[in-house]
Amino acid sequence: SYPPSAMPAAAPAKDDFLSCLTKSVSPRLLYTKSSPAYGSIWASTVRNLKFDSDKTVKPLYIITPTEAAHIQATVACGRKHGMRVRVRSGGHDYEGLSYRSAKPETFAVVDMSMMRHLSINGRNATAWVDSGAQLGDIYYFTGKYTPRLAFPAGVCSTIGVGGHFSGGGFGMMLRKHGIAVDNVIDAKVVDANGILLDRKSMGEDYFWAIRGGGGESFGIVVSWQLKLVPVPPKVTVFQVYRGLKDGAIDLITKWQQVAPSLPEDLMIRIMAMGDTAMFEALFLGTCKDLLPLMGSRFPELGVKQADCKEMSWVQSTAYIPMGASATVNDLLNRTSNIKAFGKYKSDYVKDPIPKAVWEKIYTWLAKPGAGIMIMDPYGAKISSIPDRATPFPHRQGMLFNIQYVSYWSGEAGSAAPTQWSRDMYAFMEPYVTKNPRQAYVNYRDLDLGVNQVVGDISTYESGRVWGEKYFKCNFERLARIKAKVDPTDYFRNEQSIPPLFK
Ligand code: FDA
Repeated sequence: SYPPSAMPAAAPAKDDFLSCLTKSVSPRLLYTKSSPAYGSIWASTVRNLKFDSDKTVKPLYIITPTEAAHIQATVACGRKHGMRVRVRSGGHDYEGLSYRSAKPETFAVVDMSMMRHLSINGRNATAWVDSGAQLGDIYYFTGKYTPRLAFPAGVCSTIGVGGHFSGGGFGMMLRKHGIAVDNVIDAKVVDANGILLDRKSMGEDYFWAIRGGGGESFGIVVSWQLKLVPVPPKVTVFQVYRGLKDGAIDLITKWQQVAPSLPEDLMIRIMAMGDTAMFEALFLGTCKDLLPLMGSRFPELGVKQADCKEMSWVQSTAYIPMGASATVNDLLNRTSNIKAFGKYKSDYVKDPIPKAVWEKIYTWLAKPGAGIMIMDPYGAKISSIPDRATPFPHRQGMLFNIQYVSYWSGEAGSAAPTQWSRDMYAFMEPYVTKNPRQAYVNYRDLDLGVNQVVGDISTYESGRVWGEKYFKCNFERLARIKAKVDPTDYFRNEQSIPPLFK
């Protein structure tokens, strides 16, 4: 009978959960609110300082597994004794859903940060990586193994593998190699019954869902098998700044059509801020080959030999987010990420935005509290994959993604940036995708909607409100898979996939 009865109706029996867990998990891997280290463990990967506050609803327990069996025991004890779990890998969730609840709730956090093993099989050009590794670990160790292999994922090295892959994951090679999960070939997951599954035993529907269907919903992904991709020994990076007085608006207007149709080896993204646009590029080749291409396809940008920085691909993964002084060793640093208070939103653009609108956008970027707009061009590989091939549906015909980043440096400074973020988003509505207005699940935004829970199950109707923006028509398939693999809605948060039973 569906929906099935969910967790025990009574209040969670906390002590029973703990005594169940200590049969399988060493107490040194468990933290209760009274443990001296609880606060520092909880805060260790809180990347959005907005949530590092006394008002935040925090977990009753934190479990730091070192092997899959610990996760299996946590889920089994959690199910038995009515303790929900949230899972955290790198803690970069913009809304903090991996370590806090938006409403009062009793839950535990499975913190994957002790599980970061990575092994490379050079013969097959594959790797297995644990969810608690960070992207910088993949880049560093792949680059160290050989300068000829790489992996296409996000730009910031401290991002956790677990959450990033769960939402798709894209970076500077998206035009050549698609998103991270386009290159995931197997995974190990602990399901809602505490069973450890691989691709064969979970089946293709389940495997489809975990590759981009959003974190938390389908189980705890322990590790991922990656198909590494070839790169040339030298790549070229440029970062050129153009102000409004240098014709930045004409350049952006042209960029919208040029960047998505360039050869797949070249990605030029834009960061628009204040009265400036920064054009940042990764070219999978040498400066000698890049300059004639720029000369023929985008001469107005005026990229010169002196703008080119040639380096190995792995070096580019440090250089692009951290600057010229960064070394590949910085990719292993788990604390180098700038911590800020922030609000983030996203959009997708299918039709070029008129020049007159870009002029207005720059008046928005000059307002009090203004943030920045990061624009990643699509086209080539990312757009050649059918929208239904993975849960990530923002592919065919997409020109570019926009991320609106608003940040501030102290609790008191939130009003103007938060207001700017909402107003800017409202202003952009006519110029971006419609029905639905698409958004990227890894740029989590609770303004898009949150689940309503009725009879202890998140309702499909409430999920559709935000879910179709992230997943379009793939949302329904995700909800049907959820009903099969987690019918009691054990794994849930404010934006987890609700089960669809009929
Ligand atoms: P976190 O641990 O917070 O998890 C995020 C979500 O996934 C939560 O719902 C969590 O419960 C769930 N989850 C985590 N581990 C899981 C597991 N093992 N199994 C199942 N569910 C799990 N994105 C991008 O595509 N390209 C980019 O270049 C960037 N750049 C960037 C820079 C910075 C500074 C930040 C803060 C964020 C980004 N992002 C990004 C967004 C990033 O991809 C997104 O926040 C990821 O979900 C982060 O993954 P973490 O594991 O770090 O987050």
